[in-house]
Amino acid sequence: MLLATSKSKSPLIVYLLTSIFFLLVCAAPLPAQVESKANDLLRQMTLEEKVGQLSQMPGFPVPEFMQQNGITPEDAVRKYGAGSVLWVSDPKQINRWQHIAVDESRLHIPIIFGLDVIHGYHTIFPDPLAMASSWDPKMVEAAQSVAAREARAAGITWTFGPMVDIARDARWGRMMEGAGEDPYLGAAMARAQVLGFQGAQLGGPDHVLASVKHFAGYGAAEGGRDYDASYVPEELMWNVYLPPFKAAVDAGVGTVMSAYMDLNDVPASGNRWLLHDVLRNAWHFKGFVVSDANAVHSLITHGYARDGADAAYKAFTAGVNMDMASGTYLKFLPQEVRAGRISMQQIDDAVRPILEAKIRLGLFENPYVDVSKIDRVLNDPQSQQSARVAVQRSVILLRNEGNVLPLNKSNIKSIAVIGPLGDATTDLLSMWGALAKPGPTVSILQGIKEKVGNGVQVEFAHGPNLWREIPSFFENIPGFAIKAQPKQSAEEAKRAIDDAVALARQSDVAILVLGEIDLMSGEAASRSSLKLSGGQQELLEAVVATGKPVVLVLVNGRPLEISWAAEHVPAILEAWYPGSQGGNGIADILFGDANPAGHLPVSWPRTAGSAPVYYNHNLTQAPEDAPGFKSRYWDIVSTPLFPFGYGLSYTSFSYDNLRVSQPVAKIGTNIEVSVDVTNTGTRSGDAVVQLYIHQRAGSASRPVRQLEGFQRVTLAAGEKQTLHFTLGKNELQFWSPASKQWVVEPEQFDVWAGGDSTAKLHGEFRLVN
Ligand code: BGC
Repeated sequence: MLLATSKSKSPLIVYLLTSIFFLLVCAAPLPAQVESKANDLLRQMTLEEKVGQLSQMPGFPVPEFMQQNGITPEDAVRKYGAGSVLWVSDPKQINRWQHIAVDESRLHIPIIFGLDVIHGYHTIFPDPLAMASSWDPKMVEAAQSVAAREARAAGITWTFGPMVDIARDARWGRMMEGAGEDPYLGAAMARAQVLGFQGAQLGGPDHVLASVKHFAGYGAAEGGRDYDASYVPEELMWNVYLPPFKAAVDAGVGTVMSAYMDLNDVPASGNRWLLHDVLRNAWHFKGFVVSDANAVHSLITHGYARDGADAAYKAFTAGVNMDMASGTYLKFLPQEVRAGRISMQQIDDAVRPILEAKIRLGLFENPYVDVSKIDRVLNDPQSQQSARVAVQRSVILLRNEGNVLPLNKSNIKSIAVIGPLGDATTDLLSMWGALAKPGPTVSILQGIKEKVGNGVQVEFAHGPNLWREIPSFFENIPGFAIKAQPKQSAEEAKRAIDDAVALARQSDVAILVLGEIDLMSGEAASRSSLKLSGGQQELLEAVVATGKPVVLVLVNGRPLEISWAAEHVPAILEAWYPGSQGGNGIADILFGDANPAGHLPVSWPRTAGSAPVYYNHNLTQAPEDAPGFKSRYWDIVSTPLFPFGYGLSYTSFSYDNLRVSQPVAKIGTNIEVSVDVTNTGTRSGDAVVQLYIHQRAGSASRPVRQLEGFQRVTLAAGEKQTLHFTLGKNELQFWSPASKQWVVEPEQFDVWAGGDSTAKLHGEFRLVN
């Protein structure tokens, strides 16, 4: 209307009217307005209605505890309202639940619908470990904003991401959900994802509420066994495990999810040090905390809470605002208040940020999904293109002896695509991608076929099947359409290998696609061995023995044991779980339409027995490179197979001329470091330039190296650029176990720049008081 009538008016008036219109319609409410609306609601609410807001209802079959206590989620919403509903993702169902809340509950407070949109809703992007491998936070932010737009269009208003747990042990299944082992890279990825999901300010159109998880220390699960206890000393918490969470909080994340496991003998979801002292007191977090699923009730299982009432009391007073799907708050919090153990003021303070999030998200004005708009958003071809670029930017070239890659399609007549993941689709999405609402997925076989066209014959041999010895419970969740491949006998597996070898023999090149099906990584997907499972190693060795050129493409959620391949297979690409456009993006890399520039966000262990392995360990009394101390094991080299930060390109780079602004600087002044990077090859490519520091002495032993800066830059063949890095307080400080505080110490520092964590180009400086 406004635009139609304004056509006749002058451009200035049109501009002014349009600006006013957008200010009125789009302007986010001011903090004071949000707070006062929340307080208005709070004044009208009964205790039960408040506790309803502190509860997230399960949208899936109701947990046993709720059944036993006669709680049906829909009735609870009708009677008291609810903070949120978990895992209802069908837009029609979302509208149905929302109508119950808005039309039938007394105060008409809308529901927030939460789902794990971890790396895509319909367009599935590479998994978070892959996106971290891009070392490209801008790309990651853009990817998560596509995920947010799609999810929001379909009625999801809250995602349980980003997952920012530091993972140093590849046996832990959830490594793929995060950004790897490094706090600095992890913080950059955390920030980027929060901005992507939420936008610059919570409540922007096309964005969702984010939840940084799992607070905190989950990645340190003993033995890499999922859910097992973590024992993390305070200095390691502050210096390594907490920084990505802090970055997410600083970026304005609206919610934090408390973890499942025991942290230093206190379950994270009942841990007041974490949820109150760190999150609220030290970091001034203003949003709300949701427990992990059923984690409030699980405080009993931990042997931490006596019973349901004690669990509700302990989680609530520790700082969990919202109980995810256990019903424990619903049942027990009102009686805790009536008994005087919890005050109404405490309840109000816990409810307020939940109401504020709903107000900011605009749910009071627009509670329902406009189903007529969903398809247009989900089928935006630009999103598929972004996902394809994300694959190109995430894939890591681990080996390329004799420049086997890129393949030249004009020299090749036939290609054998081999392996149990070669024609996979759902398996390229990871378990969370498969759980969202994925659209069509391009398999690697399909991507290669489309790339080479009709002139090249492309045949496929599956090889042996992949399954878990102990099945995943996710296979039994209704509506969860992911399954392992059927078990095979030894003879069947052998026959499948023979067929694959025969195909390789008659082809010009063999592309093996090996790794892990989606259920082999992720939640409840830890493993004791990192070997290529289920006959894949035999398959690989047999195909290599044919003497044909072999390219190994890995699809997996964690580094695998590939020492044999690293010696015998000329070309290795790490794709992680590449998502909907996996096949196309990988084909782009294989045939040189894109130049790989992914770099490892984790150190690559030689075997599971060497876990945990990470580059930023302490120097120790016997440094690895000191003469006579080469190896800490007698049966294996103790260094990783590939170092943190490593990745090859189809071109090459040199790093020179590292300059430090001041050899001696007063604490408080910034140190400027610059370095020249040159593309020394014959084609354009991206360098990922990394800056590491080391403090030589101080109040504590400091890591041998720490990443404190990186930049990904595109350089034409022969081009040189000078890159600048700043080392300020954030980069130079650490949490000292001696003084129990953040310190910048007057000491000598080393600085290195280069293409991975073993970079040799060195400089130094001294900080003085
Ligand atoms: C996982 C969380 C997830 C939640 C809801 C839990 O089992 O640990 O990461 O967000 O379920 O799906």
